[in-house]
Amino acid sequence: MSQIDYDALSFDDEDEIISPRGSEHGFDEVVERAISRRGFLGSVLAFGSGAAVMGVGALQGSTAMAQQMSRFAFDQLAPQTDGTVHVPEGYKWDVLVRWGDPLFSDAPEFDSATGIPTAGSDRVFGENTDGMELFHKGGTQLLVVNSEYVNGKINLPAEQEGKPVSADDVVRLQNFQGVTVMEVAEGANGWQVVVDSPYNRRIHHRTPMQIAGPAAGHDLLKTAADPTGAQSLGTFNNCGSGRTPWGTYLTCEENFNGYFGATVEPELNEVTAAGFKRYGVRTSVDEGRYNYHGFDERFDISKNPNEPHRAGYIVEIDPWNPDATPVKHTALGRFKHENAAYALSPEGQVVVYMGDDERGEYMYKWLSRDVYVPGGDTSTLLSEGQLFVAKFNDDGTGTWVALTPEDTGMSDAEIAVFTRMAATQVSATTMDRPEWIAVNPTAVEAYCCLTNNSRRGALNDDGTVRTNAAGEPMVPNAPNPREVNRYGQIVRWRPHNDDHGAATFDWDLYVMAGNPTVHADGPDAGSANINAGNLFNSPDGMQIDSTGLLWIQTDGDDDNEGEFAGMGNNQMLAGDPVTGEIRRFLTGPNGSEVTGLTWSADKRTMFVGIQHPGSPFPDGEGSLPRSAIVIVKRDDGALVG
Ligand code: FEO
Ligand code: CA
Ligand code: CA
Repeated sequence: MSQIDYDALSFDDEDEIISPRGSEHGFDEVVERAISRRGFLGSVLAFGSGAAVMGVGALQGSTAMAQQMSRFAFDQLAPQTDGTVHVPEGYKWDVLVRWGDPLFSDAPEFDSATGIPTAGSDRVFGENTDGMELFHKGGTQLLVVNSEYVNGKINLPAEQEGKPVSADDVVRLQNFQGVTVMEVAEGANGWQVVVDSPYNRRIHHRTPMQIAGPAAGHDLLKTAADPTGAQSLGTFNNCGSGRTPWGTYLTCEENFNGYFGATVEPELNEVTAAGFKRYGVRTSVDEGRYNYHGFDERFDISKNPNEPHRAGYIVEIDPWNPDATPVKHTALGRFKHENAAYALSPEGQVVVYMGDDERGEYMYKWLSRDVYVPGGDTSTLLSEGQLFVAKFNDDGTGTWVALTPEDTGMSDAEIAVFTRMAATQVSATTMDRPEWIAVNPTAVEAYCCLTNNSRRGALNDDGTVRTNAAGEPMVPNAPNPREVNRYGQIVRWRPHNDDHGAATFDWDLYVMAGNPTVHADGPDAGSANINAGNLFNSPDGMQIDSTGLLWIQTDGDDDNEGEFAGMGNNQMLAGDPVTGEIRRFLTGPNGSEVTGLTWSADKRTMFVGIQHPGSPFPDGEGSLPRSAIVIVKRDDGALVG
């Protein structure tokens, strides 16, 4: 029996247990690290001039000046530490839907102590809400929402340590995750889920999927149950979201590795073993976080070693057709996908920006071969094109490096399945956990949250620098300048020629989170747009609204002590891309992460996700905690995005 409390264990720490990351490098890297630090100081000084060239002085903006020109329609909310949601004066919030709420009238009733039974667990709103997007047509509004993972002790409260003890338990956990499509409507009693809407749908860990792109049908994806290698079951660890210009939803498979395990010592070929190591798939005989493999042999790598190759993709879902089979797009690469943010090149090619959320992994860009024509054929746009990985230079420029067979020594199918290895071949820049990317609809630029990286520049016991999963030492570099990065930063780039399809870009840091009340100066004080009033750490979720305001959601340390004093619970802040001003707007219950944001068709309602509350939110004492989507409106009903 495992002694690990997985409910309290981060996915990062789980990776560390599965595959301890030592260093294969030595003293030279320590020296290089020191040089890189000097490089960082130089590049921070250079940001000012770089930003000036781009007409923006985010890192230089004085708070007083920013407040004078503030575009925010609210006063800053103070940090909070209690068990509920807070919004600024003049705004109100309410719960729209909680884990276990019915999507259909035949759904089982939620029990405050035992939750939801297995029978009917696919008829309710899923657990751990994350990325979401709203689609509207005529008067109908569909909210499509990811359910990222489960907390065993909450979702299987009757079982010892929340671990499944039967195939029935596993089915229940599988049903609570994936994606929910649901119709929502605002009436006299506020916003409600439209129970029994013909659009309502649960997509979970056993829902049939179609595999598309260069890896479809490849031997690496074939299993005993699917000799075609093109028809898998389930979408996993659905983290951030995205949408396409043609009105489909993109769900992003992140920490898929944790669902697989071995019941006996597996016999793996070299290619598979190397891939498992790089992606953190457990090969030891162990129950792991979910122990699916103990009861569902599809997840047992000693029997089905190719099954993990069928997860870790961007998955496209048509919200308007409940019978449509979701499509896994292997052309967009396989890694721990955070979200998918689209843009169009001036010619109309589709660009999708994507981050791989693991310490020292990379940022990617997809560029379609064909152009998007409204109402035209979109079938090739996420399968024919080129995948690139980001390389950041210390001088404030960067390059999207194409992942081609010529430059990687891998076939197109291998690049699609082992994308991380292909990116390492072309010396991509190791990043501090790329979380959400957002494209500004009012300027040709994009932003990525680099949430934190406790191992950046950290040393092993033998004095060597910690590495990423590829064995690359995570020395500080220009966009990831801090050792033991506990606060996180947001990098911004502007493609050359105002063309998201361009191979080159300029970049700067929009913000370096920090704590100037604890660190009087130095990198941990943060950038100039951080002050005692707007402290936060670990930027994660991010959206830019139709007016060009940047909304930042956090998933960090909320103990409000020491390095994190004055930050309070996880939160959502608004940022002005032009002045750099950042102001706290919403706080979540203690223990929760604020993640997922979208707007109603009329832009008078915000939908905000509250994931894994640490107290019995929102039902109160005596109830299991329930992740939930809350709505936020202005008291006067004015626009909020
Ligand atoms: Fe699911 Fe990286 O957050
Ligand atoms: Ca996230
Ligand atoms: Ca996170």
